[in-house]
Amino acid sequence: MAKTKTAFFCQNCGTQYAKWVGQCTACKEWNTVVEEVIQKSEKASWKTEINPVKKTSKPLRINEISTEKEIRLNTFDIEFNRVLGGGLVPGALVLLGGEPGVGKSTLLLQIALKLPYKTLYISGEESQKQIKMRADRIHPQSENCLILTETKTQNIFKQIVATEPDIVVIDSIQTLHTDYIESAAGSISQIRECTAELIKFAKETNTPVILIGHITKDGSIAGPKILEHMVDTVLQFEGDRNYVYRILRALKNRFGSTSELGIYEMQGGGLRQVNNPSEILISKNDTSLSGTAIASTVEGLRPLMIEIQALVSTAVYGTPQRSTTGYNSKRLNMLLAVLEKRAGFKLGAKDVFLNITGGITVDDPALDLAVITAILSSNSDIPIEKGICFAAEVGLAGEIRPVQRIDQRIIEAEKLGFKTIYVSKNNKISLKSTNIEVLLATKIEDVANALFG
Ligand code: TYD
Ligand code: MG
Repeated sequence: MAKTKTAFFCQNCGTQYAKWVGQCTACKEWNTVVEEVIQKSEKASWKTEINPVKKTSKPLRINEISTEKEIRLNTFDIEFNRVLGGGLVPGALVLLGGEPGVGKSTLLLQIALKLPYKTLYISGEESQKQIKMRADRIHPQSENCLILTETKTQNIFKQIVATEPDIVVIDSIQTLHTDYIESAAGSISQIRECTAELIKFAKETNTPVILIGHITKDGSIAGPKILEHMVDTVLQFEGDRNYVYRILRALKNRFGSTSELGIYEMQGGGLRQVNNPSEILISKNDTSLSGTAIASTVEGLRPLMIEIQALVSTAVYGTPQRSTTGYNSKRLNMLLAVLEKRAGFKLGAKDVFLNITGGITVDDPALDLAVITAILSSNSDIPIEKGICFAAEVGLAGEIRPVQRIDQRIIEAEKLGFKTIYVSKNNKISLKSTNIEVLLATKIEDVANALFG
C-alpha cells in the first residue's frame, strides 16, 4: 500500500498548497484551503480494468490529419445546436453550469429523450424512478435513452463498455468519485480526477460527454477553475427562477462562437424552444405607457427586440437610488451622468429604476439610446409613440454612436412591424428600400426634442 499523500487545495480556485494557509494567495479568499487526500501513485486510465492495452499516439503532419470525423451530431434541439456551434462534436466534453433549479437536468434529459442515438444518462443525484417521473412530464419517450444511477467512475465505465452509448450525459460532475482518489465526492481533487478520466474516455472513443456542473454562490462553476480549462465547451444556463425564460450561453467553445444564445421557456411539460424571442419580449399593450422604450439588439448572430422600462421618481432619501434588473448598473450611472452633464436634464435628485422585461440580461451597447429615452419618457411622463424603436450607443459627450450589424437590427424591427427606428448618423446602412423609416441622429438632445418636444 502506497503512502497516503495529502495536499491542500483552495476550494474556490483550485490552487494547490503544501501547507495549510488561512488566505489563498491566488484568489485572496479566506478559509477556503482544505486538506485532501491524493494518491497519484496508483492512478490508471478509464479502461485499465477492462482493457489494459495502451495506445500511444504518434505525431502526424497537420495536412495528414483527417477532419472527416468532425461531422457534428445533431441534438435535434435548434437552440442547443446553435449554442454549440452546430451540434455536438464527437469526443467533445461539454460542461453545463447553472444555478440549482434553473433546469439543467430537465434540459439534458429532454434532449436525451429526443435523440435517435443511444444516450446514456447517468445521474448521481436522482433515482431512476425520479428521472422516469420527470421524463413522463416531458413526454416524447425514446427507446434509445438509458438511465443509470451511479457515482463511481469505474462502474460508469463498465456500464459504458457494456452498453456502447453514442452520447453520455453526467448529472453532475460534483457527485462523481473515482477509486484512485480518497477524498470526498465534490472535492477539488475528485472533480479534477473524474474529469480527467472522462476526457480520456471521450477522446479515445470519440464519444461526446455532457457534464452538469453546480455553480457557487458567486456564479462560477463549483470546483477548480481548471475544470473549465479541461473541457472543450462551457455552457451556462441562466434565468431568473421567478420568470419562465431561460437563456443558454457558451462561455467557452473550442468548436464554435461564444456569442450565440439559446432561449427556452420553462413550461409544465419541460422546456420549450423559443425560436422567435422578439415577440415574447415585448409586452402587448395597446396603449403606450410612459417609461418604456424598445431597443433592437443583437445577441450573437441573432437580432432581438427588447423592451426597456424605466421609472424615475423623486428621491425620498438624501441619496438617490439607482437600481437595475438585467442591465449593467454602472452603465446606467454613466448614462445618467451624460444626461445630467451634456443635455442638462436634472436627474440628481431622482430615483431611477431600470428593468429589462422577460427577466433576461443583455449586454449590448446598442441599448443605450433606448435606456436614455425610457428614462426621459418616465421623467416627463410622456409616452414614446408606438412603433418607434432605437439602436444606437451613446458616448460620454452625449453623441449618438454607430453600432455593429445595423442592417440586421433594422430588418428585425421592420419584420415586427415597427414604423420608425433611430440610429446613429455615422452608421453605414447598406439596405436599399425599407418600409421602416430610419431616422439618423447625432446628439441625444435631437432625439429628446423630437420625441418629447
Ligand atoms: P431541474 O432540471 O431539476 O433543475 P437543475 O437540474 O438545474 O437543478 O429543474 C427544476 C425546475 O424546473 C423545478 O423547479 C420544476 C421545473 N420544471 C418545470 O417547470 N416543468 C417541467 O416539465 C420540469 C421537468 C421541471
Ligand atoms: Mg438537477
